[in-house]
Amino acid sequence: MDWNPGTLIGEVQRIVRGPGADTEKLQRVCDLLAERVPHYDWVGFYLVNPDNDRELVLGPYTGAATEQTRIPFGRGVCGRAADERRTVVVGDVTREDNYLACSAATKAEIVTPVFHSGVMVGQIDIDSHTTDPFTPRDRELLDAIRPLVAPLLHP
Ligand code: SME
Repeated sequence: MDWNPGTLIGEVQRIVRGPGADTEKLQRVCDLLAERVPHYDWVGFYLVNPDNDRELVLGPYTGAATEQTRIPFGRGVCGRAADERRTVVVGDVTREDNYLACSAATKAEIVTPVFHSGVMVGQIDIDSHTTDPFTPRDRELLDAIRPLVAPLLHP
């Protein structure tokens, strides 16, 4: 199934502006992306812990349950993206030393930080069961989604 960033961005906009609690909306965004983008096998949000701004706490996600519910900045791909405040793409997790295993099936990961009023509030984390699946289309999609979900990412 082909996927189109423009269509998905529009659907995320409708979810964000629609009814429901913020957590429910984030869950719908996870479900949408996991369902529609063939190489997205785990889609989730990590939130910066308001009581410890050097720690990420797992938020809504779609996919296999994970033990990685709290991640210190610097640890794993998520912790690195948080520390460096930038998108990190790992095409082959078996070649990555600083990686926290979530599922044995995961081959690749993209993590992008989300900023609200200049403050990093969390991140979008996507795992793929395919090696090297991410292209500029994924960045285009995630760059557009980041500001849309930013106001929803709070405890
Ligand atoms: N692999 C991540 C941990 C989170 S799971 O992918 C859900 C990491 O290395 O930070």
